[in-house]
Amino acid sequence: MKVLGIETSCDETAAAVVHSIGSQRLKLLSNTVASSVDLHAAFGGVVPEIAARSHLEAILPVIDEALRTAKTGWADIDAIAVTAGPGLSGSLLIGVLTARTLSLAKKKPLYSVNHVESHVYANFLTETTLPAYKLPNQAPNFPLLALIVSGGHTQLVLFHDHFNYRVLGQTADDAAGEAFDKVAKILGLPYPGGPSVALLAQKGDSNSVKLPRAKLDSRYNFSFSGLKTAVLRAAQAMAGQDYTFPSVKLREVLTDRQKANLAASFQRVVAETLVASLLAATEQFKPKDIVIAGGVAANQELRRLARSSLPKPVTYTDIKLCTDNAAMIAAHGYYQASRRRAPADPLSLSIQPDMAM
Ligand code: KG4
Ligand code: ZN
Repeated sequence: MKVLGIETSCDETAAAVVHSIGSQRLKLLSNTVASSVDLHAAFGGVVPEIAARSHLEAILPVIDEALRTAKTGWADIDAIAVTAGPGLSGSLLIGVLTARTLSLAKKKPLYSVNHVESHVYANFLTETTLPAYKLPNQAPNFPLLALIVSGGHTQLVLFHDHFNYRVLGQTADDAAGEAFDKVAKILGLPYPGGPSVALLAQKGDSNSVKLPRAKLDSRYNFSFSGLKTAVLRAAQAMAGQDYTFPSVKLREVLTDRQKANLAASFQRVVAETLVASLLAATEQFKPKDIVIAGGVAANQELRRLARSSLPKPVTYTDIKLCTDNAAMIAAHGYYQASRRRAPADPLSLSIQPDMAM
């Protein structure tokens, strides 16, 4: 079975083809991503109108490229999967309307998938014809504990089986990646902030700045907005200023050393917070496997701490499949189709910008 995935929930226009071999092996044949991130960088974050317009321009060439790379014609595609939510309305609309149209025109069943849940499905791809991909050796086993951490989401989920899961916790405010992006802004680093904060953190002392860890009613819920404000207050204090000092001016008055210390201390607290929840859930639920998915899974400090603190190894997939992509959408669609889940109606499938897991 071959499934075409389509993803347009934020600023990446993506299409991919996956091929199932037997019931357990899923092979990635193409993973095409066109990002409008450079257009948003000047604004320090995603501008929804620019993202939607970019999707409109890119979507058909991206799908063509994904089919060409997969050496697959429409006759060989068995199903189409598309992200219906959560995400930006204007962005989701382009992907969903394209998928609905193709489903009708090419007479293919259409599967509607949840983007956040799909991040976990990137880890079910174990083979590929593409060069330079480092994939897990085997699909994760259930019960599976998954931490999904990206610019838009922070979810800790226990999967008992496909489509049978329990959200153990999530963020009450900012997502983990969003906190990286906001701290990057305070430090005057480029967007997206995760990679730039992580790079600067290498030069800093992660114990030099005292920052609080949010205390919440459930040990599986997260909050990163207070931490971001604590970084701001610490930065103002380092600059010899009070809380009225404008955050946009901090980048001019802080030394490189101070910025590196703030980056390293912030990153340590985020990693400690995430790993503490993972450890508590591992002890309580005894999962067979643990995965960390989403853009923040690229963070090396998070990986190091997870490795040294958790009783079993964590599965990560290639970084190109951690950040937003359509391979994870196609993989998720494949499991829907193979488990005989009901396809969506191509005449009426609507977007769900607030879709919950
Ligand atoms: O999964 P993703 O591409 O998009 C969403 O679905 O949101 O994740 C992007 C997020 C951004 O917030 C980015 O700053 C963060 O992942 N990120 C990182 C790293 N690389 C990307 N955060 C921390 N450390 C990294 N190395
Ligand atoms: Zn995502």
